[in-house]
Amino acid sequence: MDDLRDKYLGLIGEAGDEAAIEALRVQAVGKKGEVALKMRELGKMTPEERQVMGPKLNALKDEINSALAAKKAALADAALNERLQAEWLDVTLPGRGRSAGTIHPISQVTEEVTAIFADMGFAVAEGPQIETDWYNFDALNIPGHHPARAEMDTFYMARAEGDERPPHVLRTHTSPVQIRSMQDQGAPIRVIAPGRVYRADYDQTHTPMFHQVEGLAIDTDISMANLKWVLEEFVKAYFGVDDVELRFRASHFPFTEPSAEVDIRCSWEGGVLKVGEGDDWLEILGSGMVHPKVLEAAGIDPTVYQGFAFGMGIDRIAMLKYGIPDLRAFFDSDLRWLRHYGFSPLQKPNLHGGL
Ligand code: PHE
Repeated sequence: MDDLRDKYLGLIGEAGDEAAIEALRVQAVGKKGEVALKMRELGKMTPEERQVMGPKLNALKDEINSALAAKKAALADAALNERLQAEWLDVTLPGRGRSAGTIHPISQVTEEVTAIFADMGFAVAEGPQIETDWYNFDALNIPGHHPARAEMDTFYMARAEGDERPPHVLRTHTSPVQIRSMQDQGAPIRVIAPGRVYRADYDQTHTPMFHQVEGLAIDTDISMANLKWVLEEFVKAYFGVDDVELRFRASHFPFTEPSAEVDIRCSWEGGVLKVGEGDDWLEILGSGMVHPKVLEAAGIDPTVYQGFAFGMGIDRIAMLKYGIPDLRAFFDSDLRWLRHYGFSPLQKPNLHGGL
């Protein structure tokens, strides 16, 4: 028994890995191992011999088992230490330029637009993306039966069964922020509201989620002339050109009267867009004088106050300025696209830097 003990404690001490430990376990204390064979011999012994040898064999088995366990733990410790040494990493090292992310063109353009309008005295307003139908439609003079509701391909939120209230909607435009900011701040007011909007539409120029920036200026003496000047200033600063020509086309929106869609003169020579020259026109926004009913819905007296509003597609003007051909790629999160069209996080758009 002493030979067995010396043999296995020696072998366990020399074992180099877990597989060797397991092989030794089977060989020594497994079902058909050497200790088990010795235990079988107990049957042939006299009761007196058995009384001595039984406990001794059990003690030997225990001793080998705990030597196996101790060696196994020591090997695991050594393996962990080896890994910690090999995979050592200095987490205080600065980041590598190569792996830095980029600013998405939509974020960049939203910053640019905000900087330009801020310079003209517009504050930034926000509203929820999940709206009530009152803010998204009714307050904007779009009653329940109005065809504009159907035209906008609205996403409706589900209501619990039996709940008869009208469903919430994913806002179809940023115009509900007009109502919310007039309610909050009253008049006079001058705000822009950039953000996400949603419509059930999908092709090369439409995605179910896209971005708009709303503009709103209300005072006692605001006219279409102010609207025209503000938009011209914006387009000049945004596209970095001195002479741009805007075309105001008579249009219709329930929440403005009169209404105009605004196009910008451009050319498409050789597939390259140039703003400010050529014979083509590109629609960039809808606008008009805020309808008296809309002012009323927002708690503002239309006999005292008036003003203009506009809604512009951010994705659209981003595509135009940076030559991005497919709108859908904006939202694919393709790293190669993001590296190509993205902007340096260290270059904040501002007017003195030419945006
Ligand atoms: N909300 C309109 C749209 O999404 C745009 C608009 C805003 C038109 C403000 C007029 C005034 O098409």
